[in-house]
Amino acid sequence: MTTAQKPELYRDLARQLAALIAGEPDPIANAANTAALIYHGLPNLNWAGFYFRNGAELVLGPFQGKPACVRIPIGKGVCGTAAARGASVLVADVHDFPGHIACDPDSRSELVVPLIEDGSVLGVLDLDSPLPARFDELDRDGCEQLVTVLLVHYRKYRRGKLKRNFDDHPWDRR
Ligand code: SME
Repeated sequence: MTTAQKPELYRDLARQLAALIAGEPDPIANAANTAALIYHGLPNLNWAGFYFRNGAELVLGPFQGKPACVRIPIGKGVCGTAAARGASVLVADVHDFPGHIACDPDSRSELVVPLIEDGSVLGVLDLDSPLPARFDELDRDGCEQLVTVLLVHYRKYRRGKLKRNFDDHPWDRR
C-alpha cells in the first residue's frame, strides 16, 4: 500500500464502520465488528482488537488474531503505556520497546490508540503486524479517526435515551 492510498483507505474504513455500528447500542458488538473490519481491511496485520480499562488494568476485549494476554497493568507494555499517557503509541520494532508484552512472537511492530471519553481512558485499540515499521503517522491518524467514530457513537447512546443498554457494562466500570 502506498502512502498516497492510506488516507483514502482509512476514509473508506471510517465510512464502513459508521454504517456497521449505526443504530446498534451494544458496545461489545460494535467493538467486535470494529476489530473484524480493521483486521480484514488493513494489510499485514496479525492482531487487531481492544482492551478495556477496569480499575488499574486493561482487560482483553473483542479482537481478531491469536489468543492474547488477558490483563495488562496500566503503564505496562505498549498498551498500558498508551493508556497511562492518554496518547497513541507507535512502535516500529517491538524488540526495541522496553517492557513490550509479546502475546504473539510473530509481532514486530505495533500501534496502540487510547479510547478517551471525558478525560478518562476507557480502553485501547491495539494493532500488531508481523512486519517491522508497518505503521506510520498516517496509520496513527487513520486509526484515531476510527476510534473517534466509535466514541462519538458510544457517547450518543451513553448519554441518550438508551443509556440503560450500557448498565453493568465494562465500559462503565470507571
Ligand atoms: N503487545 C502488547 C500486548 C497486547 S498484544 O500485542 C495483543 C503490549 O505490549 O502491550
